[in-house]
Amino acid sequence: MRYLSDATQPTSGAEQTYFVRSYAKINLTLDVLGKRSDGYHDLITIMQTVDLYDTICLTASKDSSVRMICTQSELSNDNNLAARAAQAIRQRLNLTQGVDIELHKRIPVAAGLGGGSGNEAAVLLAMRDWWQLPLSIDDLQTMAANLGSDVPFFLTGGLALCEGRGERITPLAYRLPSSMRWIILVKPAISVSTPIVFRNLTAQDYSDGSASRSVLAALTEGHNQPPLEDFHNSLERSVLQQYPQVAQAREDMLHVGAPYVQLSGSGPTLFSTFSNLSQAAQVQQQLHAQGYEVYLTRAIPPV
Ligand code: C5P
Repeated sequence: MRYLSDATQPTSGAEQTYFVRSYAKINLTLDVLGKRSDGYHDLITIMQTVDLYDTICLTASKDSSVRMICTQSELSNDNNLAARAAQAIRQRLNLTQGVDIELHKRIPVAAGLGGGSGNEAAVLLAMRDWWQLPLSIDDLQTMAANLGSDVPFFLTGGLALCEGRGERITPLAYRLPSSMRWIILVKPAISVSTPIVFRNLTAQDYSDGSASRSVLAALTEGHNQPPLEDFHNSLERSVLQQYPQVAQAREDMLHVGAPYVQLSGSGPTLFSTFSNLSQAAQVQQQLHAQGYEVYLTRAIPPV
């Protein structure tokens, strides 16, 4: 089995380094089934990694510390999720070797794209592979689920059905249809707090999971265009109501020709899909001219 990384083998010599990519995701669907007694919510969500990635470089340090350096200075500290993943592995195996982690951040932070969760999974996999640590995929999955609900998905990436609080993963061997060949991400200039979005849900936002099941069936049967009404995100109503900038961005995307628009995760990033590159590029340019942060991406298979 190969994992979500394009890791190179550690180089020999005094300064051993290991590079890894950490991809973003979108939620094609996100059904919230209801609130659990542990405070989390039960979900059914279909996630897909997309071609927007952070680059992580690990270097064995000369002491036993974990040092974090990030292109965004406010993330250059021990609370960075990548550093927490490295500490989790060191504690789990009582490792004394320290590591310097350099993180070239490109994925917008707190944006519904799973950037931090992807970084955690990438560090777990990279340290395991680089140092050839005795950790099975089950060990990694348990550690990943302890770090966060989205983290286990990023151990494999690609297209997957995620259930429970998001940590129960069924990888899907299907490709997105050609109508979804190009994916535009639009990140309104705000950050959103995931716990607050979940807290603002009301009973009317809960669903029976039929949207995710219907999209799953359409993907399984190889439909070129799963029914648009099934592209549902239970968090969208609460986010659009609470953040007018997201509602405005949605209107602006539809106005310039996006066939449909959906929130990814708890937002604020919105996405739309296109079969045709020139149409996607035109929409990108028009939104960029309006001042939006826009990314033109595509689905990434599990590596
Ligand atoms: O698991 P993670 O730490 O990423 O979750 C962040 C927060 O999002 C949780 O503390 C919880 O408030 C909310 N959440 C939830 N149900 C989920 C996943 C996340 O309520 N399935």
